[in-house]
Amino acid sequence: MTSPFSLIGRVALVTGASRGLGFAMAQGLAQAGALVVLNGRDPATLETRRAEIEATGGKAAVAAFDVCDRTAADAAIDDIHARFGALDILVNNAAFGVPRDFFDITDDDWRVSMDVALDACFRLSRKAAAGMVQRGWGRVVMVSSVNARIGRGTNTAYITAKAGLEGLTRGLAAEVATSGVTVNCIAPGYIATDINTAFRADLARYEWIRNRTPMKRWGTPQDLAGTAVFLASEASAFMTGQVLVVDGGMTIAI
Ligand SMILES: NC(=O)c1ccc[n+]([C@@H]2O[C@H](COP(=O)([O-])OP(=O)(O)OC[C@H]3O[C@@H](n4cnc5c(N)ncnc54)[C@H](OP(=O)(O)O)[C@@H]3O)[C@@H](O)[C@H]2O)c1
Repeated sequence: MTSPFSLIGRVALVTGASRGLGFAMAQGLAQAGALVVLNGRDPATLETRRAEIEATGGKAAVAAFDVCDRTAADAAIDDIHARFGALDILVNNAAFGVPRDFFDITDDDWRVSMDVALDACFRLSRKAAAGMVQRGWGRVVMVSSVNARIGRGTNTAYITAKAGLEGLTRGLAAEVATSGVTVNCIAPGYIATDINTAFRADLARYEWIRNRTPMKRWGTPQDLAGTAVFLASEASAFMTGQVLVVDGGMTIAI
């Protein structure tokens, strides 16, 4: 009997898979049987990551490109279709913040934040979901943040982009709902990765987040893998346009 969580025969693209949440989710998808295409901007790092996945019995390939580069992103999806015959699962994970006090945010800071965390996800979803609709099956998984719903100072551009991504999730989900393609979103809480190295280096802030989290710990990238597999699999077939919060309880307690 095949598990509803099995991804055997599926092809997935995970953006920002060179480290952090993206790599952990890619490992999870590969463990569930998918051939995972790893994206990031540095080919050498991605090759190392590909070898790590293959060393543990998974299937992986590399697609190095900047998600903000429209031409390169479109070409990468065409290339995945040409090499592997389909793209079944897209995980829009790559992003970074540009932390600034609100009154110091420049137009360029704002544009850079929207480009990587929202516009790139729109374009990749538009290109990838078109093929999924044609084939009658697909999964788009966005990665927003608890900060899309509970704000924090000095991060307004990032918060705005992530809130927009949740809107993109609902809009696209509604539009393709009869096609076999689902579109859902994971909102992680505070997970220890390179994105928050500087934030965590301040012990007071590290402890503030730990104590603000009912489970009394920061998350690990591996905490996201199971949710990604669920949303990428047949197990979540009747679920679309939703945001799953994975935050150790941060947003359900004061
Ligand atoms: N960690 C958290 O606490 C947390 C909480 C909520 C949401 N998130 C979200 O989770 C996602 C992953 O975050 P993370 O913590 O894993 O961050 P991370 O460790 O800094 O990793 C970011 C990844 O994105 C890639 N990337 C950045 N810009 C890119 C671009 N223009 N084109 C292609 N790849 C790019 C990086 O690859 P290269 O630098 O090698 O290109 C890297 O693989 C982000 O969307 C973030 O907003 C994280």
